[in-house]
Amino acid sequence: MLSSALTQNTHTAAVTYEMATFETGDARDDILSGLLSTQKYLNPKYFYDQRGSELFEAITRTSEYYPTRTERRLLQRHAADIANWCRSDAIMLEPGSGSCEKVRLLLEAIHPQLYVPMDISGEFLRQSALKLAAEYPWLKVRAICSDFSGQSLLPELDTDSQKVVFYPGSTIGNMSPEQALIFLQRLSKDMQPGDLLILGVDLRKDPEILNAAYNDAQGITAEFNLNILNHVNQITGGDFNVADFSHQAFFNETDSRIEMHLVSRKEQVVHCAGRDLHFSRGERIHTENSYKYSLEEISELAANAGFLRRESWLDDGALFSVNLLEISG
Ligand code: SAH
Ligand code: AVI
Repeated sequence: MLSSALTQNTHTAAVTYEMATFETGDARDDILSGLLSTQKYLNPKYFYDQRGSELFEAITRTSEYYPTRTERRLLQRHAADIANWCRSDAIMLEPGSGSCEKVRLLLEAIHPQLYVPMDISGEFLRQSALKLAAEYPWLKVRAICSDFSGQSLLPELDTDSQKVVFYPGSTIGNMSPEQALIFLQRLSKDMQPGDLLILGVDLRKDPEILNAAYNDAQGITAEFNLNILNHVNQITGGDFNVADFSHQAFFNETDSRIEMHLVSRKEQVVHCAGRDLHFSRGERIHTENSYKYSLEEISELAANAGFLRRESWLDDGALFSVNLLEISG
């Protein structure tokens, strides 16, 4: 049960902030096991220290990164349609809430009883929740710092209110389709008929658009990718030198995903969590996948997890989709 793992740190009239217990040792072991694999990799959740969260926000403002502005327009345009599915007792929950910017586009239309933003990036979450609550004095906010790939996904709510899970940004695309299915199955287990999932999913498209979105001219995505090494150093006491790696991102057509890697600029040995890690020149650390779906694949994924796709809203260029899924009764 999530609540037993929580300690309450902050409480004002409208905002509470809770933090799940994180085992630093677990993160260190997890990082090390990825870096000791034949194909070195890191879980993309390690992008999000305070700097990483800020860099992600900066990416969303680049001209090349179409997902955020496209999804924002869809949410703006269809807020009333979405609200038509929501009850007056709705509680909104958002895994990976980041800056809590997008939920603002739905709050007035849905007017939830409670909003529960959840994110692994604790201080960024706390500040975002406080800012939101100050702008929406009528809104109760319960912020929870937790890892959705760990034990807890949704908190115990102890109420029959309608759950409206908001999972925008195509964050689901950072999991493999198999992991995404498990994630949705875990979600649906905690939901009841009539509960909703508002799911933002990036769509397959011209690789040129995709490659540009992950290789912006200002180099912000490169900085975001490289910053994972600073976070790894902080967790493991490691000595990665960011200047000794370079950013690489490309669309893998076969697997329908953008891949991000860090490429070693030279032969080197890095010390990390008490181990010597050898890198040959050109050797890569795989840091992220970002899967791109078709609408049919989204329906299939949803159905396999016990959801019905009730509505999908797309922009004119069919770049991005906002999908309204309901637990099948
Ligand atoms: N929902 C926002 C932010 C998307 S960025 C938007 O659509 O713009 C992805 C967010 O998920 C980040 O804020 C990151 O900190 C969070 N995140 C990534 N992996 C996570 C995990 N395992 N557990 C909890 N949050 C995670
Ligand atoms: C959060 N996630 C959906 C982003 C994406 O597009 O996969 C993270 C990101 N990586 C590089 N740019 C943005």
